[in-house]
Amino acid sequence: MIKVSKLSKQYVERTAVNNISFEVESGEIVGFLGPNGAGKTTTIRMLTGYIPPTSGTASIGGHDVFSESIKARQKIGYMPENVPLYDDMRVREYLRFRAELKGLRGQEARQGVNEAVELCGLKQIRRQMISSLSKGYRQRVGLADALVNNPELLILDEPTNGLDPNQIRRFRELIKQLGIRHTILISTHILSEVEMTCNRVIILNEGKIIANGNPNDLSSELRSAHTISIELKTSEEIAKDLISAIPGIKKVNKEHQSGDWTHFNIRTEPDTDVRESIVHLANTQKWPLREIRTQHATLEDAFVEITQSNTSNS
Ligand SMILES: Nc1ncnc2c1ncn2[C@@H]1O[C@H](COP(=O)(O)OP(=O)(O)OP(=O)(O)O)[C@@H](O)[C@H]1O
Ligand SMILES: [Mg+2]
Repeated sequence: MIKVSKLSKQYVERTAVNNISFEVESGEIVGFLGPNGAGKTTTIRMLTGYIPPTSGTASIGGHDVFSESIKARQKIGYMPENVPLYDDMRVREYLRFRAELKGLRGQEARQGVNEAVELCGLKQIRRQMISSLSKGYRQRVGLADALVNNPELLILDEPTNGLDPNQIRRFRELIKQLGIRHTILISTHILSEVEMTCNRVIILNEGKIIANGNPNDLSSELRSAHTISIELKTSEEIAKDLISAIPGIKKVNKEHQSGDWTHFNIRTEPDTDVRESIVHLANTQKWPLREIRTQHATLEDAFVEITQSNTSNS
């Protein structure tokens, strides 16, 4: 559905996108991730034909986004980073206007608008002025706009930006539902959302792709390296050193102190279980131990680890 080959965008001051290649197959839900300034929006704007690349090519459903821009755009529903809406229109009127702009007429346009209104939960507010909508509803109108001509591909640039946790959940369900019939490329900073909805993630950093794969695979390498959280009753300064000396332990962090209890976070080597050694140490030192818990790495841990180890100036 999407084919990107050696795509670059050079601004005067900097290279925003640096020779990236990737493909998205029909039916995939792909999370497009990366720190601020990584080049996500720039890539998306090239894919949607809003800005030309400096070099390289991109096509949507076999149509080059520049030489066959109209055909390529017909396949895309695009929700930009900051949804531009006409404040002086009513929701339904605006969506009708957008449907007609996308070439839909009469019954077809009416049906497109009705379906989008239904899917995005806009029925109650369809007669309201856009200027009077809350942020969450504006986002929904932006999504309904992207959906109005029932495009094969949805490209959503931070669609949940500014939504409250309840709305984020609803949005996530909506994305899952849309994923049944649409191919989706979604840029977001909410990684739990990606873990729950995407079959694949592409991580961009400083304009380059630094990871491309299944979200579970990306964190599995980290998953085998456990983090263990323990709580000990000890005021001895030497405790941290003694724990660090246990074979298989990579790093010990003193997290916080509550009363006599000290909370440590411990990173271990991959595939080693140090819990028994910790209990043994606590016993011999006569330190009461009231918690020992293994934590698994999340996609967020993987993201932080991957992007920080690939950043040139940190
Ligand atoms: N029109 C422009 N002129 C010059 N530089 C630009 C322009 N647009 C973007 N950039 C630069 O290109 C880089 C990538 O920006 P981009 O907006 O693509 O990042 P992003 O990954 O979408 O970040 P965010 O998560 O903050 O939305 C940034 O350093 C940005 O300052
Ligand atoms: Mg952006």
